[in-house]
Amino acid sequence: MTIAAGSNRSSRIAGFHKLSPRERLDLVAGFAGLDDAQVTHLANMGNLDPVLADKLIENVIGTMNIPVGVATNMKIDGEDVLIPMATEESSVVAAVCNAAKQNYETGFFTSVSGNLMIAQVQAVDVADPAGARIRILEKRDEIKAACDACDPVLVSLGGGFRDVEVRLLDTPSGTMVVTHLIVDTRDAMGANAVNTMAEKLAPAIAAWSGGRVYLRILSNLADRRLARARAVWKAADIGGEAVRDGMISAYEFAAADPYRAATHNKGIMNGISAVVLATGNDTRAVEAGAHAFAARSGRYTSLTTYEVNKDGNLSASIELPLAVGLIGGATKVHPTARACLAILGVTTAERLARIIAAVGLAQNFSALKALATTGIQKGHMALHAQNIAMMAGAVGEEIDRVARLLVERASVRMDVAQKVLEEVRGG
Ligand code: MEV
Repeated sequence: MTIAAGSNRSSRIAGFHKLSPRERLDLVAGFAGLDDAQVTHLANMGNLDPVLADKLIENVIGTMNIPVGVATNMKIDGEDVLIPMATEESSVVAAVCNAAKQNYETGFFTSVSGNLMIAQVQAVDVADPAGARIRILEKRDEIKAACDACDPVLVSLGGGFRDVEVRLLDTPSGTMVVTHLIVDTRDAMGANAVNTMAEKLAPAIAAWSGGRVYLRILSNLADRRLARARAVWKAADIGGEAVRDGMISAYEFAAADPYRAATHNKGIMNGISAVVLATGNDTRAVEAGAHAFAARSGRYTSLTTYEVNKDGNLSASIELPLAVGLIGGATKVHPTARACLAILGVTTAERLARIIAAVGLAQNFSALKALATTGIQKGHMALHAQNIAMMAGAVGEEIDRVARLLVERASVRMDVAQKVLEEVRGG
C-alpha cells in the first residue's frame, strides 16, 4: 500500500524533533507518499541501535548502510595491516589491494608532524592592529593557563596549549587581528577541545586588542597535523619503465593543472574518506583540510609526488593534514567504527593518520597506473557491471552471471543487462 502524499505538504512540523524515529518516519511517509516497502526499509536500522542513531543526529528516521570492505596486502612501517573502508564506489577497495600487492615486500613508510590543531579568534575594529598583535603575544602565559584550564584531562594525557600566533589580515572592512591557539589534542580530533578554548579566550582577546571578537572556531586547514607516507614500486613489478614514466607524466599533469589535480586528489580521497568514514571520523573536516592544503601555494595542485629514484624505480609520496581521532563523537560510540578501529589495531590517533595517508597513496598509485595504461574503465566496468546487473533486477547467482556476460560483450548498459537477464532466466 502506498500512503497517499498528504494534501497539506507543509515542512513546518511542530515538535518533529520530539517524536520517535518511527513516528517521524510515518509523518515523512505521509508527506512524501512512500510505499510500504520504502517505509519498512527505512524503519530497519540494521546494525545501528535506533536509540544510538537518534542520539547521534537530529530528526532521525532511518540509517544509510554503506558497505565496509577490507583492503588486504598493506604493510605499513613494517607491520601488516588490514584496512576497513566504507565506500559506495566500486573499485576503491580493489585499487588499494592491487597497489599494495605490487610493493608488499617493502610496503609503506609513514610519519606525522604532530597532533596540533588550530583554533582561530577573529577580532575586528581594532584601532592599532600591529600593537594589538604584540599585546596578545605578551599574554602567552595567561593564554596557556586559560586554555589548559578548559581541558585538564587533555593536559593529564600530555596534550594542551602549545603556542599562540597572531596574524593580521587585510580585508575590505579593515585589518582583522586573528589569534591562533595551537593545541595538542592527542588522540582526539580536537574540534570540541579547541572550540571551547577559543570561546573561553574571546573576551580577553577582545579586551587586549581593543576590538570586537566575532568568530571563535577551529581551522580545518590542520597544517600542524600533517600525515605523510612514502613507498617505492620497482619498475619491473609495475610493468616496466614505460608504465613508470606514464605514471610520472600523470603526476606532472596533476601538479601543473588544477583541473586534473581536482580529479587526481578526488581519487586520493576515495581511499582516505573511506577509512575516515569507517572509523567514525569527520570526512568533511579531512576533505576540507586536504583541499585547502593542496591550494596552499595559491595554486591548487597534487597531494602526491612521483619521481624516479636512483635505482630507476618509482618513488611516491603524499603529505596532507589528517585531523582524525579515536575518542569523541561517532568514533567512540558507533559500534561499526569501534570494530573497524579494532581491525586496524590502532591505539593512537597518530597511527590512524599514518595508515590513512598510506591508503591515500596506494589509491592514487592504482588510479595513475590504470590511467597511464589501460584506462580505468576496464577494471571499473567489471565491478560496475554488477551494479548494473542488480539494477536490471538480477538477484543471487544471476548477478555474477549477468555481470560477466555484460563485460564479455563489452556493453555494460542497463538495456543490455535487461536482455541478458532475460536470456539467463530463459536458460
Ligand atoms: C574515480 O573515482 C577516481 C579517479 O578519477 C582518480 C583519478 O583520475 O586519478 C580514477
